[in-house]
Amino acid sequence: MSLEQRITDAEGAIAAAKATDAATVEAFRVAMLGRHGVVTNLLDELKQVPPEQKRQWGQRLNQLKNAARERWEELKAATESLPAGSTGPATDVTRPAFSGAPGSLHPISIVRQRITGIFARIGYTVSEGPEVEDDRHNFGALNFPPEHPARDMQDTFFVDGPGEHALRTHTSSVQVRVMESGKPPFRTVSPGRVYRNEAISARAHCMFHQVEGLYVDKGVSFAELKGTLDYFAKSLFGPEVNIRMRPSYFPFTEPSAEVDMSCTICGGKGCTVCKHSGWVEIMGCGMVDPAVLTNCGIDPEVYSGFAFGMGVERIAQLLYRVPDLRLYWENDVRFLEQFSADAFHG
Ligand code: DAH
Repeated sequence: MSLEQRITDAEGAIAAAKATDAATVEAFRVAMLGRHGVVTNLLDELKQVPPEQKRQWGQRLNQLKNAARERWEELKAATESLPAGSTGPATDVTRPAFSGAPGSLHPISIVRQRITGIFARIGYTVSEGPEVEDDRHNFGALNFPPEHPARDMQDTFFVDGPGEHALRTHTSSVQVRVMESGKPPFRTVSPGRVYRNEAISARAHCMFHQVEGLYVDKGVSFAELKGTLDYFAKSLFGPEVNIRMRPSYFPFTEPSAEVDMSCTICGGKGCTVCKHSGWVEIMGCGMVDPAVLTNCGIDPEVYSGFAFGMGVERIAQLLYRVPDLRLYWENDVRFLEQFSADAFHG
């Protein structure tokens, strides 16, 4: 075997050497640097090397000797830190593992889960639908007249032409899918992303989240709608909040209402958040329009129902008092990590 080959082998053996205690460290020293050790023998061979090559091999062998010494020092230091009498490796296997920083749920996910959880307690299932929706589910079956402004390019992102497919503008489309899918009773909430063609600002985004609610059965009344939403607001914001309903208009509900909640920031006394009215708007709702029931194959003479829809970002803003909607999309860790405790207690 050439000198070069034997030096390379010795380098490999030095680098790979392991020791579990003082005796194996000493065995390494003897095997490498002892009187008949590998490194010592190689150094002896320097005598036979032709004079013009002595310098080159001398340097190479000196490096080898230094490497062996360094490795010996390392092994000695590693085994000396072991408790007396230990025969185990120089690694403390009882040391607690580093678990890394745990991630956390996004605040919008936390709020969505809290909302669906509150409705789950009173028997609501969770249902979902596609984000690319056809005209019938997003508009037609929900009683939007053909000239309704929501069907205009101004508000809706169309995937193909108007009247065909669009990014859904609300999760009310899932109502239609649920009602078409079987027979009443239906009691479900539908969380999901929705899209509107809006300029992005602190107060608006072209993509946001809603939770739609639907309850259809025999004899469902407006009083039950009000009771359900009162239960919801008190569960999420605290027993001291009240709701009120204002008459409104949606094509798919009749009668329709806008739901306000007493301002959680000032307790109803008036502040900038509630614009000094003491009330903040939290959702829209109403009794499912008989025409919508008919469009979905449900007999309005037998069944009635209510529906409601809320914006998740809006609810999150009221819960967390985050003034600028854009923060929810920037994913700045300094913002997100403030919600990590809520992920476990919410
Ligand atoms: N879809 C409405 C929106 O996007 C919200 C809504 C209002 C949903 C009233 C409803 C409802 O189910 O009854 O603004």
